[in-house]
Amino acid sequence: MRIGIIGAGAMARALGGGWAAAGHEVVIGARSRVAADELAASIGHGARGESIGAAAEFGAVVLLALPVSALDEVLGEIGGSLAGRTVIDCTNAFLPDAAAPEGVLAFVLSEDAVAARIAATVPDAHVVKAFNVCAAEVWESESRVFENSRLAVPICGDNADAVRQVAVLAEDLELQPISAGGLHRAKYLEATSVFTVGLWFAGADARAIFPPLAAAFAVAD
Ligand SMILES: NC(=O)c1ccc[n+]([C@@H]2O[C@H](COP(=O)([O-])OP(=O)(O)OC[C@H]3O[C@@H](n4cnc5c(N)ncnc54)[C@H](OP(=O)(O)O)[C@@H]3O)[C@@H](O)[C@H]2O)c1
Repeated sequence: MRIGIIGAGAMARALGGGWAAAGHEVVIGARSRVAADELAASIGHGARGESIGAAAEFGAVVLLALPVSALDEVLGEIGGSLAGRTVIDCTNAFLPDAAAPEGVLAFVLSEDAVAARIAATVPDAHVVKAFNVCAAEVWESESRVFENSRLAVPICGDNADAVRQVAVLAEDLELQPISAGGLHRAKYLEATSVFTVGLWFAGADARAIFPPLAAAFAVAD
C-alpha cells in the first residue's frame, strides 16, 4: 500500500517503521523537511521524506500522526487531497487532569470526539480511528502476544473498504484487528484510551479489569 504519514514523531516512527518493514511504500511528510528526511532514513526500507502536502497526495492511506491541536491547520492545508482516501486518526486529545491529586499524573480529554470532527472537516475522506490506545513504544515493540492473546487494535470507521485496509495494516504489524463499529463509536475509543492510560500511569494494571471473553457473560438475556 502507498502510505502517507503526516508528522515525524513517535507514532510516525512506530507505525511507519513497521509498515515499511512489512513492505509498504511509506512517505513521511512533516513541516520540517529535515525531520521528515531523518525519520525516513532511520526507518529505511525505501521510506522517504517529503512535504506534508506531498505525503498526503502520495498515500492511498494517510496517517495523521499529529497533536490534536495541529489538526485544523494541517487539514486546512491537505483536506482537498484526502477525498476518497483512507485517513487513519490515531490521535488522543489528552490534557493533564487538573483535579488529580497532587503528584498524580492523570488525563482528561480536551474534546470528546476528535475522529468525528476530522470526518466533518474532510467529509469526502474515509476516516478510521485506530492505534490510539497503546503507546508508540508498544506499537514499535516486538512483543505482540500477552498471556496467550495477541495484542488487538480496535478499529472504528464507516467505510468498509477503509476499515478493511486498516485491519490489514494492523495484521501487517502482527496485531489483531478488532472491528469496533462505525465512526460514531470512535469517541468511545477515545474515552477508552484516556481512561486506560490514566490507570496505567497511576500504576494499575488496566488489563486486570477485563475477564477473558469466555468469562465475560457477554450474552443477551
Ligand atoms: N506517542 C504515543 O505513545 C501515542 C500513542 C497513541 C496515540 N498518540 C497520539 O498520536 C498523535 C501523535 O503523537 P506523537 O507521540 O507521534 O507526537 P510527537 O512525537 O510529538 O510528534 C508530533 C508530530 O506532529 C508535528 N506537528 C506538531 N504540530 C504541528 C503543526 N501545527 N503542523 C504540522 N506538524 C505539526 C510535529 O512536528 P514538529 O517536530 O515540527 O513539532 C511532529 O512531527 C497525538 O495525537 C498523540 O496523542 C500518541
